[in-house]
Amino acid sequence: MWKKVLGATFVLAALNLSAGAGQAQEQPPRSLTDIVEAWLASPHADRSSEAFTHWNEDGEIPGSCAVCHSSEGARDFLRSDRSVAGVIDHPVAPGLQVDCAACHNSAASSLDAVIFPSGESVAAMGSSAICAVCHQGRQSTDNVTTAVDGMDEDAVQADLAFINVHYAPAAATQMGGLVRGGYQYDGKDYAGRFSHVPDLNTCASCHSPHSLKVEIATCTTCHKDITEFRAIRTTRIDIDGDGDTTEGIADPIETLHARLDAAIRAYSAEVAGAPIIYASGAFPYFFNDSDGDGALTEGEAAFPNRYQSWTPRLLKAAYNYQFIAKDKGAFSHNPHYAIQLLYDSLEDLSKSVDVDMAGLNRP
Ligand code: HEC
Ligand code: HEC
Ligand code: HEC
Ligand code: HEC
Ligand code: HEC
Repeated sequence: MWKKVLGATFVLAALNLSAGAGQAQEQPPRSLTDIVEAWLASPHADRSSEAFTHWNEDGEIPGSCAVCHSSEGARDFLRSDRSVAGVIDHPVAPGLQVDCAACHNSAASSLDAVIFPSGESVAAMGSSAICAVCHQGRQSTDNVTTAVDGMDEDAVQADLAFINVHYAPAAATQMGGLVRGGYQYDGKDYAGRFSHVPDLNTCASCHSPHSLKVEIATCTTCHKDITEFRAIRTTRIDIDGDGDTTEGIADPIETLHARLDAAIRAYSAEVAGAPIIYASGAFPYFFNDSDGDGALTEGEAAFPNRYQSWTPRLLKAAYNYQFIAKDKGAFSHNPHYAIQLLYDSLEDLSKSVDVDMAGLNRP
C-alpha cells in the first residue's frame, strides 16, 4: 500500500532506516503499514495544506522556500554545503510534501550539526537534526538589530516593516539563547537549550516522527496526575504574580502574552500615534486598528491596511509576540526562554508607556 501512495519517486532501499534512529526509549515494534498510515494522517502529508499548495500557481517553489516546503528541496539542501540556513540556489517543482525520503536519506542520517538563521550552528542533534532544519524559523535577534540600527527607540520610522519569524520555529525555541530565535534584549541573560530529562529532550523522543503526536502517557510517569500537557509544572517561582505556582507553566506564558498584546496596543496609540491590532491568521499580522476599538473589525486585516508606524521598540516587542504566538508548543520546548522574551518585551515597553510589572518574576 505504501508503495502505491509514495509512487515511483520512492524506493524502500533508499530509505537508510538504520540511521537517523537515535537513542529513543523502548517502544513496541511498529509495522511499516502503521508507520505509513501515521504519516499519511499527519500534517507532513497534507497535500491540501497552504504550506504545500502556496506555490501551485507559480509552478515552482523558490530556493528560499523550497528547503522546508518540499522533500526535493530538503534533500537538495542536505546535499549542499549548508553554509546558509534554509536556502538552496535553485527552485524546485511543487508537489512533494515532507515524505519518507525527506528524512530518510544518507545525508539526513549523518546530519549532526544544524545551522540556524542567526548563523549559529548547533551540533550533536542526533535524529532530531532533520526536524531542526525546517522548524527553526527564518529570522533572529540579529535581523531585528540590523533593521533598527542607529534609530531612536521611540521615533516612528517609515522604512521599518514587521519582521516575521515564520512558523512553528520549535527548534529555535528549544535552543533558546544558543541561536537567538527570539528578540533578545541587550544586557539580559537568556536560557540556553531546554534541558529536559535525557530520554525526552529531542523532537523525535517527545513527538512520534510519523504521526507527529505527543502521547501524554509518555509524560505522566513523572508529571503525575496531569490530563493535558498544558498542566505540566515544575517551576516553583510565581511568574505572573497570581499566587498560584501549581497551574501549568503554559498558564503564565499565556497571561504574559495577553499582557504583551495589551501593552503593544497601548504603546502604539500613545507613543507611535497609530493604534495597532494583531490578526493571527492574516499576513503580515499587524494592522492599523482604524476605528481604535482595540478589537479586530471586519476589513482591518487586509494587506493595504498593514501597520506602518513602527518604532524600534514596538518592532522588537511585536517580533517576540509573534514568536510565541507561532510556536504552539513553546511552553514545552523551552518555557523559561519564552517567559524571558515576554517579560523583557513588557519591561522594555514600560520605559515609554504605563505597563504594570508589579508582582511579575523573571525566571
Ligand atoms: C519528518 C521526518 C520523518 C518522516 C517524514 C518519516 N520518518 Fe521514519 N523516522 C524518522 C525518525 C527521526 C525516526 C527515528 C525515530 C526514533 O529514533 O525513535 C524514524 C524511524 C523510522 C523507522 C524505524 C522504526 C521506528 O518506528 O522507529 C521506519 C521503518 C521508518 N521511520 C519508516 C518511515 C516511512 C516508511 C516513512 C514514510 C511513510 C517515514 N518513515 C517518514 C523520521 C521521519
Ligand atoms: C526554515 C524552513 C522554512 C523556510 C525556509 C520557509 N518556510 Fe514557510 N513554513 C515553514 C514551516 C515549518 C511551516 C509550517 C508551520 C505550521 O503550520 O505548522 C511553514 C508554513 C508556511 C506557510 C503557511 C502559513 C500558515 O499560516 O498556514 C506559508 C504560506 C509559508 N510557510 C510560506 C513560505 C514562503 C513564501 C517561504 C519563502 C520565502 C517560506 N515559507 C520559507 C518553514 C519554512
Ligand atoms: C522538510 C521540512 C520539514 C521537516 C524535515 C520536518 N518538518 Fe514538521 N512540518 C513542516 C511543514 C512544512 C509543516 C506544516 C505542514 C502542514 O501545514 O500541513 C510541518 C508540520 C509539523 C507539525 C504540525 C504543526 C501543526 O501546525 O499542527 C509538527 C508537530 C511537526 N511538523 C514536527 C516535526 C518533527 C518532530 C520533525 C522531525 C521528526 C519534523 N517536523 C520535520 C516541515 C518539516
Ligand atoms: C519535552 C517534549 C517535547 C520536545 C522535546 C519537543 N516537543 Fe514539540 N511539542 C510538545 C508538546 C507537549 C506540544 C503541544 C502538543 C499539543 O498541544 O498537542 C508540542 C508542540 C509542537 C508543535 C506545534 C504543534 C501544533 O499543534 O501546532 C510543533 C511544530 C512541534 N512541537 C515541533 C517540535 C520540534 C521540531 C521539536 C524539536 C526541535 C520539538 N517539538 C520538541 C512537546 C515536545
Ligand atoms: C523521567 C521523568 C520525566 C518524564 C517522563 C517527563 N518529564 Fe518533563 N520534566 C521532568 C523534570 C525532572 C523536569 C524539571 C526539569 C528542570 O527543571 O530542569 C521536567 C520539566 C518539564 C517542563 C517544564 C515545566 C516548568 O514548570 O518549567 C515541561 C514543559 C515538561 N517537563 C514537559 C514534559 C512532557 C511534554 C513530557 C512528555 C512528553 C515530559 N515532560 C515527560 C521529568 C520528566
